[in-house]
Amino acid sequence: MNVDIAVIGGTGLNTIKGLTITHREMVNTPYGQPSSPLIFGEVCGCTIVFLARHGSGHTIPPHQVNYRANLWALKESGVKKIIAVAAVGGMRDDMKPGKIVFPDQIIDYTWSRDSTYHEGHQDVKHIDFTYPYCEEVRALLINGAKKAGLDPTIDGTYGATQGPRLETAAEIRRMVRDGCDIVGMTGMPEAALARELDLCYATCAVVANWAAGKQSEVISMKVIEENLKIGMDKVRKLLEESLPQL
Ligand code: HPA
Repeated sequence: MNVDIAVIGGTGLNTIKGLTITHREMVNTPYGQPSSPLIFGEVCGCTIVFLARHGSGHTIPPHQVNYRANLWALKESGVKKIIAVAAVGGMRDDMKPGKIVFPDQIIDYTWSRDSTYHEGHQDVKHIDFTYPYCEEVRALLINGAKKAGLDPTIDGTYGATQGPRLETAAEIRRMVRDGCDIVGMTGMPEAALARELDLCYATCAVVANWAAGKQSEVISMKVIEENLKIGMDKVRKLLEESLPQL
C-alpha cells in the first residue's frame, strides 16, 4: 500500500490515539527488519503510516535502532514526508519541559552507528546537509502547532548523543558552548538517512526534562514520563492541525 506521510514515534508515542488501523505490515529490507511493523491507518481524515522507533514494546535502545531499515521500509512503502517525534532534554532557557520544539540544525555526537546507505565500492556520494530538515514539512508543523495554540519554539540546534545513558553536566556545558539547544539520542543518523533517500523529514521534539546540570536535582525517570505525557498530548493536537495540510 502506498502512503505519503509517515510518523515515526519516539519515547512516549508508541501509538497514535485516534488512529484507525487498516493493516500492519512487517517488512524486510536489505538492511534487516525495521523496529516494528509498519502500521497503516487513518487519522484526522488522512492516511498515514506509523512506525514505533523503539519497537512496539519500547525495547530497542537508541544506539541499537536499525535506522537504515526503518527509513528504507518507509521509502519502500511510498512515503515522501516524515514527521519524526522525539523526546529531548532542554538546554536553552525557553526550552522547558513540556515545550514543543522544531529544530532547524543538528550537531552529531553519535558514534559507531550505521549512518549511511553509501558503502562498499560504489561511486562516493556526498549529500548536501547544510539544512538538515525539510523546510516544507517544518513550516507546516510550525503552522499546525501555532494553530493548536501550543506556543512552539521554531528553531534550535539538536545535539544527537549516543546514549543510552543521559549526559554529564560537563558534556551539556560543552554542547551549550557548541551551540546546541536541545539534546536527544535518536536524531542522527535518522535525519541524514532520510536525506540520502530523498525523503522530506522534520523533527517535532518534545522537551521531557532539563538537560543534565541545568537544575540542581538529578534527572528522574518519573519526571521525564510525566512531562512526556503532557508533551505527547500536544503532539496529538499538532498532528490534528498539521496532517490535513500535509
Ligand atoms: N538527553 C538525551 N536524550 C534525552 C534527554 C536528555 O536529557 N531527555 C530525553 N531524551
